[in-house]
Amino acid sequence: APVPIPDLTSCVVPPIELPDDIKNIDPPISCCPPFSSDIIDFKFPTFNKLRVRPAAQLVNDDYFAKYNKALELMRALPDDDPRSFYQQANIHCAYCVGGYTQKGYDVELQVHNSWLFLPFHRWYLYFYERILGSLINDPTFAIPFWNWDAPDGMQIPSIFTNPNSSLYDPRRNPTHQPPTIVDLNYNKANDNPATNPSAEEQIKINLTWMHKQMISNSKTPRQFLGSPYRGGDTPFKGAGSLENIPHTPIHIWTGDPRQPHGEDMGHFWAAGRDPLFYAHHANVDRMWSVWKTLGKKRKDFTDPDWLESEFLFYDENKNLVKVKVKDSANDRKLGYVYQDVDIPWIKYKS
Ligand code: C2O
Repeated sequence: APVPIPDLTSCVVPPIELPDDIKNIDPPISCCPPFSSDIIDFKFPTFNKLRVRPAAQLVNDDYFAKYNKALELMRALPDDDPRSFYQQANIHCAYCVGGYTQKGYDVELQVHNSWLFLPFHRWYLYFYERILGSLINDPTFAIPFWNWDAPDGMQIPSIFTNPNSSLYDPRRNPTHQPPTIVDLNYNKANDNPATNPSAEEQIKINLTWMHKQMISNSKTPRQFLGSPYRGGDTPFKGAGSLENIPHTPIHIWTGDPRQPHGEDMGHFWAAGRDPLFYAHHANVDRMWSVWKTLGKKRKDFTDPDWLESEFLFYDENKNLVKVKVKDSANDRKLGYVYQDVDIPWIKYKS
C-alpha cells in the first residue's frame, strides 16, 4: 500500500526521534502544525511562464533584495500561522524526527532513507516558494539553488552570509565560511585544517563524488531514489545514492559544531531553521531532474505504492493540501525549472 498522509490528530509531542538531551525538556519541543480537519486536494498551478530557480552564486542585488524581503515577511508572521518561517521549519521536524504516524497505521512516518526522500522535499520547497511569492505579491518568485556540484558553487553562497539579512543563520560552522570549499563527503572525524585537502584538490574530489553518485552508483530508480517504503512499514529502508552522498554530509558540514547536535543544518529536527536548507535542497531537487536526463534505466518508479503515496502541506492561502508523489515527478508541471548551468561532473574522470 502507498504511504498515507500523517494523522494530524495524533501528532507526537515531543517527536520520538529527538535526541535524548532535548527530548525531556519542559515545556517539550513540539513540531506539530496548527490543526485543520479541512483537507483539499492539490491542483496543478496555472501560469504563463515557468519560474526559473537561479544558481545562488549568480543572482543580482535585486534578486537578493526580493528574497530578503520575502523571508523577512515570512519570519514576521505569528508562530501559529502555518506560513510562518517557524512553521515552515517545523515541517521538517514533524516529518523527519518522528512527529507523525501514518494515518491508519500505528507506525512512525519518516520521509528520509527511502524512496519518499526526493518527492517529499520537492513538495516542501514548492509550498515554501509559493508562500514567499505570495508574501511579496510576486507569483514568479523562485528560490535559489546552492550549486555545490560545480566549482563556482562549492562554498556557502554569499547571499546567505550577511548577518544583517533574513537569509542568515548564526548557527553554522564558523570554519566553513567562504571561501572554504565544501566537502561533499564530509566526515567530522577527519576535519583537520592541517591535513585537509587544498581547495583545488577538494574540487576534484567533489567532482569525482558527483560522477560516482549521479552516474555509476545510480543506474536504477532504487539506487538513486531509495528503497521502497510502503504504508504500514517501519522506516529506514535504505537511502538512495544522492541522499547518502552528498546530501547528508553537506548538512553536517554546514551545521554548527558548537551546538549539541550540529544545529541548525546538522540535525533533522532543526535543519529547516536555516534558510540555506532550502537552497541546499533545491540543488538536491535539481539533481533529481538532471538524473532523469542521463539515460538508460534512470527513470522514476512506476510502482503504484510510490506514485500514490501522500503528504500534507499548508499552502500560501493557509489551506491544508493533500499531495501525491506522482504529481511531483515533473517539475515543469509545478511551474518551475532550474537555471541552465554547466554540469561539470557528467564527463568527469578523476
Ligand atoms: Cu529532510 Cu536534507 O533533509
